Amino acid sequence: MLNTVEVTKNIHYVGVNDRETHLFENLWPLDKGVSYNAYLINDDKVAIIDTVKNTKMDAFMDKVEGIIGDKSVDYLIINHMEPDHSGAIKAVRERYPKVMLVGNKKTFEFLENFYGKMDNYYIIDDGDTLDLGEHQLKFYLTPMVHWPETMMTYEVNNKVLFSADAFGGFGTLDGGIFDDEVNLEFYTDEIRRYYSNIVGKYGAMVQKALKKLTEAAIDIKIIAPTHGPVWRTNPSCIIDYYDRWSKAQTQEGVVIVYGSMYGNTQKMADFIARKLSEKGIKNIRIYDASKTHVSYIISDIWRFKGVVLGSCAYNTGLFPSMEAVIHKIENSQLKNRYLGIFGTASWSGGGVSTLNQFADRIKWEKIGESVEAKSSPKAAEFEMCEKIADELAEKLIAEREVL
Ligand code: FEO
Repeated sequence: MLNTVEVTKNIHYVGVNDRETHLFENLWPLDKGVSYNAYLINDDKVAIIDTVKNTKMDAFMDKVEGIIGDKSVDYLIINHMEPDHSGAIKAVRERYPKVMLVGNKKTFEFLENFYGKMDNYYIIDDGDTLDLGEHQLKFYLTPMVHWPETMMTYEVNNKVLFSADAFGGFGTLDGGIFDDEVNLEFYTDEIRRYYSNIVGKYGAMVQKALKKLTEAAIDIKIIAPTHGPVWRTNPSCIIDYYDRWSKAQTQEGVVIVYGSMYGNTQKMADFIARKLSEKGIKNIRIYDASKTHVSYIISDIWRFKGVVLGSCAYNTGLFPSMEAVIHKIENSQLKNRYLGIFGTASWSGGGVSTLNQFADRIKWEKIGESVEAKSSPKAAEFEMCEKIADELAEKLIAEREVL
């Protein structure tokens, strides 16, 4: 018997889990897998909303057929063309040759570029509607959340927002599909990692999309994204997170990231962390950039206001694993953080000076003077590290008192 779930009246979850793929977009670790969520509305007219990655098309098609039997599919709504969701469009077309593909103008440019020209297009614009019988769909264009063609589909009568990648995250759906069936602590971390690495660069466009939904005054009872849990009990929770993350709002805490060959730069990281703790900071995360994938580091940098970066010198430059960290931060255009810098030089410098150049470009508020020890930290450098910790803790605690 097929494992299908009814989201609400005649709206079915027909998504699949992927536990095999190691890297999402061939970049981001999928330690806990990922789900590709797709939905089926079984009404007078049958509509599929988004599909799945091509490696999963059989499981997806089996679910669709399991629900509608001999009926045909009338519409395939394409909210997003990234191949983790468009990978089974051809399979749907082959199985249901009369299906009408529904998307916006850009959708079909992407479709033809990826899969070649098809026929039966229905091009919608912002605010257009489509009647299925007891269900009525309304479309909202939400460009750059996080591709140019991205849109959301709202089912008016049951108040379900099919939101594409927005509000979704990594992690397979292991039995539980809905927010009230799963451990939200785990999914919130994986949603923030998805947001900060995949969508976060487009925070201004996320704000624009949220504003559009607010101005449309639509009542959202259920959020059905293309990854992660379906929010039916507390959809405002994930909307609030998205609002905060896209405004670069933070929690009190410090992320210390370092690159260290033989442990001397690491000593400075541990020392700064201890001093922060003595000052009363409780959320402190230390990451060895060579050990932890940058996606996890960025996710915590998205969360906390304080960032302290350290590097040894490597071939007259920054330690290579730290290059990935500063590149990702700059690429994300993240704002509103405090920044401390430390590290070591040996037969050459290059680590701390490169971090200082990064500080000039990123324009975060610099905390204290940068500290650079010769090969290993001595009393004078530890003293400077303590000053960074003191000043950073003071600023964070002052903001706590304001709140
Ligand atoms: Fe889940 Fe942008 O694809």
